[in-house]
Amino acid sequence: MSVETIKSLFKELWIPYAKVTSQAEKIRDLLHAQGETIVNDHVAFRSFDLGPYPIQTLAQPFLELGYKATGRYDFKQKKLDAISFSHPSHEVPRVFISQLRVKELPDQAQAILKTLIAQIPGAQTQAAIRSELSWPPIEKASYLELAKVSEYAAWLSVFGLRVNHFTVSVNALKRFPELESLNSFLQAQGFRLNGAPDHSIKGNPQCGLAQSSTVADTIPWSFPDGELDLPSCYYEFAKRFVKAGESELFDGFVTQSADKIFESTDRKHHSA
Ligand code: NI
Repeated sequence: MSVETIKSLFKELWIPYAKVTSQAEKIRDLLHAQGETIVNDHVAFRSFDLGPYPIQTLAQPFLELGYKATGRYDFKQKKLDAISFSHPSHEVPRVFISQLRVKELPDQAQAILKTLIAQIPGAQTQAAIRSELSWPPIEKASYLELAKVSEYAAWLSVFGLRVNHFTVSVNALKRFPELESLNSFLQAQGFRLNGAPDHSIKGNPQCGLAQSSTVADTIPWSFPDGELDLPSCYYEFAKRFVKAGESELFDGFVTQSADKIFESTDRKHHSA
């Protein structure tokens, strides 16, 4: 499978993501205007461990394109598992897929999710990752109930299996070769960063990866039973390092950092 085929897949994946993430287009345009070429470090998907699209199923299209697993991660507090994948060519983005351990949620949230999951048609992975939503829209009351116990579940119930975030590779930037300078530039342009002002950078050179992310856009959303402004998707920025004793850039992810980055879609950041 040629690298060009994979690149065209990522162009398709950008469409449903950008549709609810206008800041990503704006930041991309701003960086282009600065003369930068944007390279994607990784994209991330969210899913449920129950139903037709657990990690192993969502990963299948990427495995068929030659991707290999590079790490497994456990987010105890958020009740998530994740696996990361890289392509041996290193010319296309890494893929990070997480899944919610539905049975660890309280009974009421489980009941909402099991009803939703029962309506997901299976065996359509290629379509599901390119689509805006693969199941009937959830009701506002159910969304709010999920948000009480899992921001991840609430987000996923509304936005589906589309990419949750794209990630700019800071290693590939010329004017902003460090997260500090990029973050300052973005903040000066009016973008809000997760954890700002003091904790916008997660990770460090020693662990091989430093990341920052915007706070997700807030968008008006129409549920079958009402309207609500809610957090959609965010844009992420990653700088990779060669760890001590290694010869190549770190290729995986750091659980402690990703744990904080997940919170970029939390409602606490948003006035709604
Ligand atoms: Ni990420």
